[in-house]
Amino acid sequence: MIALIAVQSSARMAGQKDFAMARLGSLTVRRLDARIKQQLRLRAAANGRSMEDEVRAILRGAAGAGAESRPEMIMPAEFAGAERREQKVDVREDRRPADPAAPQKWRVLLIIGGGIAAYKSLDLIRRLQDRGARVRCILTAAAQHFVTPLAAGALAGERAFTDLFDAQSEFDVGHIRLARDTDLVVVAPATADLLAKMAGGHADDLAGAVLLATDRPILLAPAMNPRMWAAKATQRNLAQLVADGVRVVGPNSGEMAERGEAGLGRMAEPLEIAAAAAALLPKQGPLAGARVLVTSGPTHEPIDPVRFIANRSSGKQGHAIAAAAAAAGADVVLVSGPVDVPDPPGVTVVKVETANEMLAAAEQALPAEVAVFAAAVADWRVEQVSRSKIKKQEGRPRALALVENPDILATIAHLKSNRPRLVIGFAAETDDVVANAKAKRIKKGCDWILANDVSPETGIMGGDSNTIHLITATSVESWPPQSKDAVAGELVERIAAALRGEEA
Ligand code: CTP
Repeated sequence: MIALIAVQSSARMAGQKDFAMARLGSLTVRRLDARIKQQLRLRAAANGRSMEDEVRAILRGAAGAGAESRPEMIMPAEFAGAERREQKVDVREDRRPADPAAPQKWRVLLIIGGGIAAYKSLDLIRRLQDRGARVRCILTAAAQHFVTPLAAGALAGERAFTDLFDAQSEFDVGHIRLARDTDLVVVAPATADLLAKMAGGHADDLAGAVLLATDRPILLAPAMNPRMWAAKATQRNLAQLVADGVRVVGPNSGEMAERGEAGLGRMAEPLEIAAAAAALLPKQGPLAGARVLVTSGPTHEPIDPVRFIANRSSGKQGHAIAAAAAAAGADVVLVSGPVDVPDPPGVTVVKVETANEMLAAAEQALPAEVAVFAAAVADWRVEQVSRSKIKKQEGRPRALALVENPDILATIAHLKSNRPRLVIGFAAETDDVVANAKAKRIKKGCDWILANDVSPETGIMGGDSNTIHLITATSVESWPPQSKDAVAGELVERIAAALRGEEA
């Protein structure tokens, strides 16, 4: 204790607190006697910091608060209650969350497994921090062939843990505390071996012991060779883990590290993993607690076993809206026709083919506060779907008898009970965009309509940007051309304002 007080005084006297903190922080730790060092270690562990950071925090407090400030008590971990742990001081000022609306200071334990994708996990540390997370890392023995504990620790701002039988780690924190002092455990990359160990409940290394000991949600980001992913043993282990309540993000499809190998097995991108992680935590944001239904993509109306009626919708806009609503804290059900875009993280996706299936899934998703109908639903389906492939007829093309599909938006907007508070449609127009969209809003009975010009020269259908006119009962507002993600963000802000009772 004496040694620490001495350091605080000298830092104050120096008047150069950053310099003093940087230099004296490490000098102090080395020169402290064993008893003080032990107390400092316990206190650092209780506050979730390295010993040097703990000294820096003490110095920062002393230098910033002025001469009258009292040194903080050094308290053994077992006496440091939950309240004390809540009041963590984050000394990493350069790593404030990028998104001010992001949840603040949730804790993620990132277990890095031994695969080439481990290098992406270093970026994942940053992406989680961008969302307000304090990240602590465990590296398996295999992971250390790909990334170093030093790199992970430097990015996380606290030493990375590696060894179940390391006396210092067990003394500092211990595997049980590692398992509990977190809001979420993320395993990335989750290798085939890690999945097998988890499914079998093995605890012969730090990662296994922590995964077995934790009672917090676990998110896996699998990454492995496509054949290893497809292997019966891996799929069996995965099914067991999912049945045990473990959540999974990815893997994605694409090229593998091995030349010429491609398929399902690439680890999800760090941004996707960070979003999926955020979705597992208590919802925060302007739509927290709201249930939102979104339809997206085209529908496919079968003609015979090999042909169908479709349209050019990519699903990009609807999926972006679902993602933005989820990021704003909503509980989102996305009813999607066949699309190539990935499922947005943190969203419940119901995949359908036809308009009838889309209507049934949308009705099933109710009640909801908000429903956004971004799908390009096929207006017609063939009256009689042929069971066998229709053959060409001599001389003339065959006429298809069509019947009209149900109008999903109009059906939900006209519901007597269970109608969402805010029903929002799209109007895909090629002529008289605003006039047609105004008429469509009234005909369909929705509250707002987002009109866009889908003439081929606009590139909106299938493209990445959109030009929207927001039409409400009382106003028409034309938004500048912007990305579909930006449109989604703007719409979600408007929805949140409307739910708060403010006008659109
Ligand atoms: N919509 C729907 N069900 C349908 C057709 C359309 O839910 N069977 C929804 C779309 O998701 C969109 C809105 O209705 O929100 C308008 O779709 P649009 O394709 O612009 O209009 P249509 O109703 O198909 O009318 P038209 O083709 O005559 O313009």
